[in-house]
Amino acid sequence: MASHVASLRGWHPALARAEISALLPHATLTRLSSRRLVELEGDISLQEMQSAVQCASGCQALLCHAVVWKREEDSSAFFERIQTYLTTHPRNGSVAVRSMKHEGKMVGVSSREFAGKIGGMMSAQGYEIDLESPEHRLGMVLDASAGIIACGWMVGSGDDSDGIVSRRATDRPFFKPVSLDPRLARLAVNVASGPREKGATLDLMTGTGGFVLEAALSGRETYGIDLDPLMIEGAQKNLDWAMPHSDAKLLLGDATQLSAALPKQAHRRISGFVLDPPYGRNSQGSLDHAELIQSVLQSARDVAAEDADLVLILPMHPFGELADEALVVGAPVDLLHGQWNDIESTFSITGWRINQRWVEHVHASLGRLILHATIVPQD
Ligand SMILES: C[S@@+](CC[C@H](N)C(=O)[O-])C[C@H]1O[C@@H](n2cnc3c(N)ncnc32)[C@H](O)[C@@H]1O
Repeated sequence: MASHVASLRGWHPALARAEISALLPHATLTRLSSRRLVELEGDISLQEMQSAVQCASGCQALLCHAVVWKREEDSSAFFERIQTYLTTHPRNGSVAVRSMKHEGKMVGVSSREFAGKIGGMMSAQGYEIDLESPEHRLGMVLDASAGIIACGWMVGSGDDSDGIVSRRATDRPFFKPVSLDPRLARLAVNVASGPREKGATLDLMTGTGGFVLEAALSGRETYGIDLDPLMIEGAQKNLDWAMPHSDAKLLLGDATQLSAALPKQAHRRISGFVLDPPYGRNSQGSLDHAELIQSVLQSARDVAAEDADLVLILPMHPFGELADEALVVGAPVDLLHGQWNDIESTFSITGWRINQRWVEHVHASLGRLILHATIVPQD
């Protein structure tokens, strides 16, 4: 049986792969020769797929049991497979073909012609075509750089349904230069927190609420904490603006003392931690950057669920574009504040295992390191 295919979007395909992997933990992922198409194999329900696409930042659609065609094959092979697919994977209700292009135009293939031909096959098989509001969309993703077409019934509309692509931090009532881009904040929340029902998410240093807003908007049980009352007040304004009546809790407190700061009902239930620490010397003056992170990681262990994950974002000297792959294990990075070796050892000292690291290019003088770690079970 063919696998499902995830069609990825956004500026960082490697992070988008990590996100869909975290949202669908029962799936085995294999990257196709395209950087934006990933095969998913495993026992995944339609409901799990819907939930993942709904809250993903970097996945535009999942194509169920997709047909995959490579440009070196004859186009008639593609249409034969689609013909069979429509018979073996029937849908009740009106349908339409939705074509999506990755990496420009695919040489020698007209998406319009291909979509028209598939539409004709659907009609011939008795499907009602409704181009305006079909009940089912057959997604056809043409990936020009890899010369691949993936085609299958779509989960997700392929559009920016929850607004994540077009949201800007600058649109919020309380904005500061430290405010994270919503697309990155959402990716980080999803990589750290996994499927929505897994557990609660805690933004350890909330600032203007970048992570808190994305966690709350994606339907997660959400907590945010910050030492600065002005930040908590501002983050609350942003939350009320983005999601009136949200249950997310914004707490004034110290992320190095989480047992005291978090309500009892959240203890041992935080399964996704997100951390965007202050630059340079922090509001706790006495701790340097690595020491602050170490104290926070230690404190997070005290309230963590046993399968918790964490995403940490750190500014670094620019590294160039590296959006297609994670960093290789052991690769050195030049952080803006503190030494990578010190940060790395804080993770093992406090009982967290680093899984993967990615870098993001921000501008000529700034990059970002995005790090995913998992809690190590205590003896
Ligand atoms: C870089 S900002 C976070 C920005 C945030 N991600 C956003 O989107 O706005 C870091 C925040 O950490 C807070 N902070 C510093 N030390 C802290 C501590 N020990 N506990 C909790 N918050 C702390 C600062 O007040 C600041 O708001």
